[in-house]
Amino acid sequence: MNITTVILAAGLGKRMRSATPKALNTLANAPFLEILLHEISALAITDIRVVLSEDMLKHLIVSNLQKKYPFKAILQKDRLGTAHAAIQAINQGEKNPILILNGDSPLITKRTLKSMIDRFESEAFDVLNVGFKAKNPKGYGRLITYGDDLIEIVEDSHLDGKKADNALCNSGIYIIKGEHAEPLLSKVIPNSVNQELYITDIIKLANQAGLKVSFSNAPEREVCGINTQMQRAKAEKLMQKRLAKEAMENGVKVIAPDTVFFSYDTKLGENVTIHQYVIFGANVTVENDCEIMPFTHIEKSTIDSDTAIGPFARIRPNSAIGKGCKIGNFVEVKASKIGDGSKASHLSYIGDANIGEFVNIGAGTIFCNYDGFEKYKTEIGDNTLVGANSALVAPVKIGKNVIIGAGSTVTEDAQDGSLVIARARQTNYQQKAQLIKDRKAKKKSER
Ligand code: UD1
Ligand code: CA
Repeated sequence: MNITTVILAAGLGKRMRSATPKALNTLANAPFLEILLHEISALAITDIRVVLSEDMLKHLIVSNLQKKYPFKAILQKDRLGTAHAAIQAINQGEKNPILILNGDSPLITKRTLKSMIDRFESEAFDVLNVGFKAKNPKGYGRLITYGDDLIEIVEDSHLDGKKADNALCNSGIYIIKGEHAEPLLSKVIPNSVNQELYITDIIKLANQAGLKVSFSNAPEREVCGINTQMQRAKAEKLMQKRLAKEAMENGVKVIAPDTVFFSYDTKLGENVTIHQYVIFGANVTVENDCEIMPFTHIEKSTIDSDTAIGPFARIRPNSAIGKGCKIGNFVEVKASKIGDGSKASHLSYIGDANIGEFVNIGAGTIFCNYDGFEKYKTEIGDNTLVGANSALVAPVKIGKNVIIGAGSTVTEDAQDGSLVIARARQTNYQQKAQLIKDRKAKKKSER
């Protein structure tokens, strides 16, 4: 699409009271900036310019995002306001229309953006702003309109008692005809209250220049801005609702959507059921026909088809669970590969392991992967049965078709097909129980 997008994201986010630069705060585990870049890229917009602060330019998240969504990072050295931020990214005589977005308003969808851009083009506006009806307009600029014309935007703190209760609020989204962008922005002067350069001033300036300035209307759930932790939490709710809806529209059975936490990049296959209170960390893929039972937490892992996880399971990063597996209650899996058809049904820790196919991990098995200094690997071949309450002390290699007796502490490798028993032998002393009981009873009665 022949449109240039500028994202204003150099703000510190002081009102968030967080050490994280504002646009790198997250919804559904994705930085605001990433969510915006994702939506914009989906519209095949390729000229994306992001205005950033100095520390953001050096931020690892930003350089990683740049690999995924090639955008031009532009430094705003002194944060002198939104108009100052925008002009850092805009040259004289821009050919394409310029779409300006706030880095702290990540909920806008590609559908709404597309319809705005279409309207801007079909009605040949010079400047188009997006307004919205806010439940609580506090903190937002207000649109002063006359019919379809937008006359000016007045910041909340500059209203001076003007009655603006019914006015639309400013979303911070603008489309400006390329040739007008730089001339308008360069005319903005510091405002009298705090000396900041407000981008909102371009509306009045555009009218003074006789340009065609209008506004459109978007739902608040897509354009609300995030200045505080409370506003972030509200936006998170909206994002979660959206992600749950998308999953269900794709046929995922989400039993109680309000209780599930999705990540922005959660991938769910067909005929998947997600039970109550499930949490998906970033980077999780669940293939077809899986069932994720209640109170399960999964991060950065893949679950292959026809597998059941939980209830109360924890799948930690870099795990790959195969097809037709079962990971049951109170089982923790970390950085492990579990082959097709294998099961760990109860109370186990599986860490740094490579487990073959159709392996059964008995209840209470612990993979002892750490000696206080280093982590070590455990390998288990196909069709092996690990008896309950075993401790597998890594590094250790267990072959195929092995049986490990319950309660074994396995420290040595085991060949294919062997029976491994590594525990103290049991001794039964005939009649001895009664003798002990009699002796103890006597002692007590003599006291
Ligand atoms: C802004 C608008 C307000 C609108 C609201 C919508 C102005 C003056 N006000 O207010 O009318 O209703 O957004 O959410 O534009 N930024 C920079 N450099 C700066 C200053 C800000 O990059 O020097 C970035 C911020 O990171 C943020 C965006 O611009 O992403 C908006 O700035 P912010 O300070 O949050 O503006 P608001 O007070 O919310
Ligand atoms: Ca804001």
